Amino acid sequence: MDSLLIKGGVPLEGEVHISGAKNAVLPLMAATLLTEEPCIIHHVPDLSDVRFMGQILTSLGADVRFDGGTVYIQAAKLKGMADYDLIRKMRASICILGPLLARLHQAKVSLPGGCIIGSRPVDLHLKGLAALGAKITVKAGYVHAKAPRLSGGEVFLGGRVGPTVLGTANVMMAATLADGVTVIESAACEPEVVDLANFLNAMGARITGAGSPTVQIAGVKALHGAEHEVIPDRIEAATFAIAAAATDGEITLVGARPDHLSAVLDKLRDANVKVQRNGRNLTVKRGGELRPVDITTLPYSGFPTDVQAQAMVLMTLTPGLSIITERVFESRFMHVSELARLGAEISIEGPSAIVKGGRPLSGAPIMASDLRASAALVIAGLAASGTTVVNRVYHIDRGYEKIDAKLKKLGARIERIKET
Ligand code: EPU
Repeated sequence: MDSLLIKGGVPLEGEVHISGAKNAVLPLMAATLLTEEPCIIHHVPDLSDVRFMGQILTSLGADVRFDGGTVYIQAAKLKGMADYDLIRKMRASICILGPLLARLHQAKVSLPGGCIIGSRPVDLHLKGLAALGAKITVKAGYVHAKAPRLSGGEVFLGGRVGPTVLGTANVMMAATLADGVTVIESAACEPEVVDLANFLNAMGARITGAGSPTVQIAGVKALHGAEHEVIPDRIEAATFAIAAAATDGEITLVGARPDHLSAVLDKLRDANVKVQRNGRNLTVKRGGELRPVDITTLPYSGFPTDVQAQAMVLMTLTPGLSIITERVFESRFMHVSELARLGAEISIEGPSAIVKGGRPLSGAPIMASDLRASAALVIAGLAASGTTVVNRVYHIDRGYEKIDAKLKKLGARIERIKET
C-alpha cells in the first residue's frame, strides 16, 4: 500500500481547481442504469471509487468508457445481480438497487456490510423501496427485491439520526419509473441529491422539491439518455480551505460552489479565518490568531460529517478548548488516536471530542483509517514540524483526485512512496 511522506511547516499558497464531487458522481453513474440509451457525464473525478463504480456497472452488463474527465455509459442490456465481492468494497454501490429494480422489476444485490465509521444500515433504503410496492427479503447477505410494477407512494425517510443521502437517491431513482406519484418526506437535502434530481430530470424524469425535505416524483414510462456535468466537490473544497488555515497559507479554491459550503465557511469565519468570495472562487487565509469554535455535524445544510476530522485538526492548532460533536456517524473518531501521535490533546466524551488546542504538532508515522480521516491526517502532517508518514493512503485515493499533485502545486513537500 502506498504512503505519503510529508515534510511539514510550509504555508500552502496558490490556486487549486476543485474536482467533480465523488458523492454526486457515484449515484449519477448508478442512475444511467435506468435507461438503455447512452449517457454522458462530465467533470468526473479520477478516483478509485469512481473506477470501481464503473466496474460494478460493467459487471451488470453496461458499457462504460472513461475518457479524461468524461464517462460514457450505456446500459442497453442489464442483469440484476450484484455479488458481495463487488459491493463490499464500496458502500455507495447499494444505490444500484433502486435503478435495477425499476428497470428489471427484480434485483439481487449483496448487503454492503458495516464500515469503520459506523454500522451503516440500509433499512431506510429498503423501507422506501417497499413503500413503492417492492417485495423485499434479505437472505444470506443479499437483498432480493421484486416488483412486477412499482407504484408511487408516500414514504418518510427520516431515521434515528435524520435523513439518508443514498437512501433518498435510491428511492428517488426507483420512483422515476413507478406508476403515479411518490412523495418522499424527510428526504436528504444534500447538493448531491439535487444534482441527481437534475440529471434524472434531464433523462425525462419529473422530480420536484429536491434539496428540500419533501421530494415529489411523478413516474414516467421510460427515461432517455442525457448529458450532465457533476457539481464541484464541496468536501474537497472544504478540505483545501482548512489546509490553507492550518498551514497559515493562502489558497484560492477555483470552481467551488460557495453556496454549498455555507456551514463550513461560517465556522471558518468564527475561527478567524478570512474567506473572500470572487464569483465561484474562494480565497482562504487566516485573519490573525485562530479562535476555538464548537462544531456539531448535522445533515445538510448543517456542518458536514465529512469535514469533521479536518476541522478537528484545525482546532488542535488553535489555542483554547473546542468541542466537536459527531451526530451523523457513531464511530467517526478513528483519527483521534493518530492525531495524538502527533502531539494533539483530544479526549472523547460520548459523541464529542474535546480538543485542547494550541500545542504545536510534530511529525510521526500515522495510519489512515477512512477517507476523510486520511485527509485530516495529511493536513496535520502539513501543519506539523518534521516528517510525517501517512500510511494506507489508498483510502485517500478513493475520494481525493490527485491530492499529492494538487498539494505539491501549492508548495507542500509531499512525496508518494509507492509500495514495492
Ligand atoms: N442510516 C440508517 N439507515 C439507513 C441509512 C442510513 O440508519 O438505511 C443512518 C446511517 O447509519 C448514518 C445516517 O443515517 O448514521 C446518515 O447516513 P446516510 O445514509 O445519509 O449516509 P450515506 O448515504 O451512506 C453519504 C456519503 C457519506 C456521507 C454521508 C452523510 C456517499 C457515497 N456517501 O453516505 O460520505 O458521510 O452521506 O453525509 O454519498 C465520504 O464521502 O467519506 C462519506 C462517508
